[in-house]
Amino acid sequence: MRQLIAGNWKMFGKLADVTGFAAAMNAAPAGVDLLICPPFTLLERFAAALKGSAVALGAQDCHPTPQGAHTGDISAAMLAETGATHVILGHSERRADHGENNAVIRAKAEAAITAGLTPIVCVGETGAEREAGEAEHVVRSQIQHSLPPGFAGVVAYEPVWAIGTGRTPTAEDVTAMHAAIRAALAAQFGAVGNAVRILYGGSVKPGNAGALLALPEVGGALVGGASLQAEDFLAIARSALRG
Ligand code: 13P
Repeated sequence: MRQLIAGNWKMFGKLADVTGFAAAMNAAPAGVDLLICPPFTLLERFAAALKGSAVALGAQDCHPTPQGAHTGDISAAMLAETGATHVILGHSERRADHGENNAVIRAKAEAAITAGLTPIVCVGETGAEREAGEAEHVVRSQIQHSLPPGFAGVVAYEPVWAIGTGRTPTAEDVTAMHAAIRAALAAQFGAVGNAVRILYGGSVKPGNAGALLALPEVGGALVGGASLQAEDFLAIARSALRG
């Protein structure tokens, strides 16, 4: 399976950043799928700047309903209209900042699929849950409750304690968790579950990407901070080819 390197810009980036970043993506290596997920305000400009490029565009959240009286929210259909093809859902920062639970994330994933978007659903344990030996149990439960029937999207394993900290799990821990996620997906969705890409996210940098991407069942990376610099993002993409 080709690897997917996805950049999550979170709440960073200005209109003035878009043209240069998109132009730098002309140097993107073939053989790996690239996706950039900027804030809502940059989607349209990115869509125009990436026209003709192999780099895909995604958003970072959507509302579970197609339209309505939901001040400040944006629907999946509105995202699709900008040119986005993917949407990150259930990121731990949204779970923490906005109290999103598995049921809400599942409804958002359904809305995304209805609008023709590919959902990237994030799962991952906190540091306390890992220390308590609960990591696999927590992640399995998130998989079970936050993915809709027939899920043909992407899953991102992002241990909360590894996000923005410079810390990553050991190769053994990533391997074990990705195997557990694959088993849970296969049990829940059969053959469809075997085709779901499982990304690793949390402090992925050019220096550690090659080792992480070479691990079994790691189908790519969800990159935060390092995706803001085109050169770092491209370096990570190149390491996917060596993985
Ligand atoms: P960092 O790569 O900055 O640790 O962020 C990871 C992340 O949350 C991507 O969604």
